[in-house]
Amino acid sequence: MASKNACPLAFVGLLVEANDDWSLSIERCVMVVLNDKIVDRGQVSDLKIMILKYNIQQENIIVLTDTQFILPGLIDTHIHAPQFPNAGLALDLPLLDWLEKYTFPTEAKFKDTDFANEVYNRCVRTTLSSGTTTAVYFSSIHRESSLILAKICENLGQRAFIGKVCMDRNSPEYYCETTQDSLQETKQFIKQITDMKSDLIQPVITPRFVPSCSRQLMSELGALASKDNLHIQTHISENLKEVEWVKALEPDCNSYTEVYEKTGLLTDKTILAHGVHLQEKELQTIRKCGAGVSHCPNSNFSLKSGVCDARRLKDSGVKVGLGTDCSGGYSPSLLNAMRLAILASNTVKINKNEDEYKPLTYADAIYLATRGSALLLDMTDTLGSLKPGYLADFLLVDMAVNDATKPFGTETSEDLVHKFVFLADDRNISQVYVAGQLVKK
Ligand code: GUN
Ligand code: ZN
Repeated sequence: MASKNACPLAFVGLLVEANDDWSLSIERCVMVVLNDKIVDRGQVSDLKIMILKYNIQQENIIVLTDTQFILPGLIDTHIHAPQFPNAGLALDLPLLDWLEKYTFPTEAKFKDTDFANEVYNRCVRTTLSSGTTTAVYFSSIHRESSLILAKICENLGQRAFIGKVCMDRNSPEYYCETTQDSLQETKQFIKQITDMKSDLIQPVITPRFVPSCSRQLMSELGALASKDNLHIQTHISENLKEVEWVKALEPDCNSYTEVYEKTGLLTDKTILAHGVHLQEKELQTIRKCGAGVSHCPNSNFSLKSGVCDARRLKDSGVKVGLGTDCSGGYSPSLLNAMRLAILASNTVKINKNEDEYKPLTYADAIYLATRGSALLLDMTDTLGSLKPGYLADFLLVDMAVNDATKPFGTETSEDLVHKFVFLADDRNISQVYVAGQLVKK
């Protein structure tokens, strides 16, 4: 990655961001970036004062056009990097059969580090290009390839939370670990990531899901997470057959959630992917522990797992962020996840047929992909905002770059953002900054 930018940059134009109450702010402002942070923000009339205060060079003043705006970087809280070759493929089976027939054989190939290198470069380039400034990755069970993913994220400049996947039961013989190997390799992986001393990369404790992990493995991983205060990621209550299987495997637990609670895997840094079929009591436990759900609407539709009611999660006080779950979700783009979150919510509304039920709006989708995901990561002080003090992870969007999205001249600022959520694609994401560095030009 390029060396740190010591020259301050000033951006002058529309700043769009979600607030913690899920409302949307759209303001014409000056935003000053120095090194890896946003250091100042003020009215456009303050530009001269800012130029003097930070000694900003003329060539480092970026004045946005009327069709452009700045948005916090998108945060994908659930994506499987080794499933990237299957994106857009193999969606004819429900979860458990899909795992056996397509997913485990694909992930097993990541024993080959050359293959990992090629796929992971393409995965990170693709997600960065679609505006994912932070990704929370499941890799495979292989430590070496997981480390390759970490180095690629560091080199290409994507902020990433990376987990070596752990699985020691109910897995095919060619893609399974012993309990001891799973733990040892996880510990070694954490050490290797720590030794990278990267500001961008952090390790995540990653038990795949209850059916793939013994109680002993889950408990030891819970202890490891607690010792080093690490993030945890796993899957929960995605598919009804999976929920039944968990009941049969762990009969002393009253629910799927209780298995994670009992093994120390439910903390304020735990990301639970899906949560489509969670019971009220489980939501209360998740909220009490400060954990949250990565809402993965594309995957929930594509694998026919169910329609997750994100509004219900929000109303229960559970943290909610957004995930692509590529390749259960066919698209690695969070823009796609944002619009499918709205359609999933519309589907809930149609099925409920209740006037009072309010489906998610385009503004809610922006919240989920930025502030909601930052909250899920327990990083509301550093990620997902354009205020001074926050990490300079943001997108420069241009709606004029293609005929479908180009404004006709009568649109409001809200209209620009609305159309971005529903109709934009990578082409509209003209620039991507992570930690103040331009990583997509
Ligand atoms: N549950 C356990 N593993 C997986 C996975 O790879 N994808 C999805 N969607 N669900 C899972
Ligand atoms: Zn997943």
